[in-house]
Amino acid sequence: MHDAKSKLTNALWRIYNRMERPSPWTTGGNLPWNDPDFSQRMLREHLDESHGAASRQRAEREAQIGWMWQKFGLQPGHHLFDVTCGPGLYAVEMARRGCRVTGVDFGPASIDYAKALAKKAGVDDKCSFVQQDVRRMDFAGRDFDAAILLYGQLAVMIRVEAGALLAQIAQALKPGGKLCVELLNQEKVDKTDSSWWFTDDAGLWGDAPFLHLGERFWDDDNKISVERYQILHLETGRLDEIHLCDQAYGVDEMVAMMKGAGFTAVDVYPAWAELPLYDADEWVAYVARK
Ligand SMILES: C[S@@+](CC[C@H](N)C(=O)[O-])C[C@H]1O[C@@H](n2cnc3c(N)ncnc32)[C@H](O)[C@@H]1O
Repeated sequence: MHDAKSKLTNALWRIYNRMERPSPWTTGGNLPWNDPDFSQRMLREHLDESHGAASRQRAEREAQIGWMWQKFGLQPGHHLFDVTCGPGLYAVEMARRGCRVTGVDFGPASIDYAKALAKKAGVDDKCSFVQQDVRRMDFAGRDFDAAILLYGQLAVMIRVEAGALLAQIAQALKPGGKLCVELLNQEKVDKTDSSWWFTDDAGLWGDAPFLHLGERFWDDDNKISVERYQILHLETGRLDEIHLCDQAYGVDEMVAMMKGAGFTAVDVYPAWAELPLYDADEWVAYVARK
């Protein structure tokens, strides 16, 4: 107890002495998706159909899947590549509709869940799920018919990694194959600084009493938002500091980046093609053809 109290005091001083404005990507820049405990807690959020914070809710996913199926011209037997597939909620549904699917994600609990979900749906023979960092994957020459990279994950990578990932996906597609990427609309991104706090004893940040302090900074020169979370675990005095960076892209910039990565044509769908998504207006869907 004494030890926890002195750790709490040290943690409060660390918070007090924090860097005033964190620079993007200097101390991480993504959630710890691949940490086993975090991944397990995040899985609960993915599967919680009362909100769409980690994965979209079922009806929204179905609207997206139906739209992509048609835009990609998918048919049973086609092979889909789901990059950052999470717990396989899109991939397994695509397999139920007849596709073969390869999903990659570095969240251990998500990949385990995706495999179990495929089995439960009776489509495990059509699905392959790989636990890997997509920045290090190599699926070149696999001749996928289509690929998806959903819910803004391209934006949590530094520009050079994002470009390299798009090029890697292009190399994995067959000629004429299509990629759908969804990204936040740069014009609609919140460009203000803010801060917040809350306490809880269960949730994404931990399963024992904790204090969460959050700050958000908008870097207008580089069009990046940086969120800094300090999570102070009250029983142990441990302090977790997590930075989440999001690179915003203008439409022209994104189209140029996709073409630079090896795609020949890019169609742009503002407001997520006007699908009935609660936050559609904040997103742009891009469909690029190799
Ligand atoms: C917001 S979730 C979306 C998951 C899924 N696409 C969906 O919509 O249900 C983002 C996913 O990206 C994965 N992710 C983020 N960065 C990654 C990386 N570098 N390599 C592999 N997976 C990554 C996370 O593990 C997480 O499952």
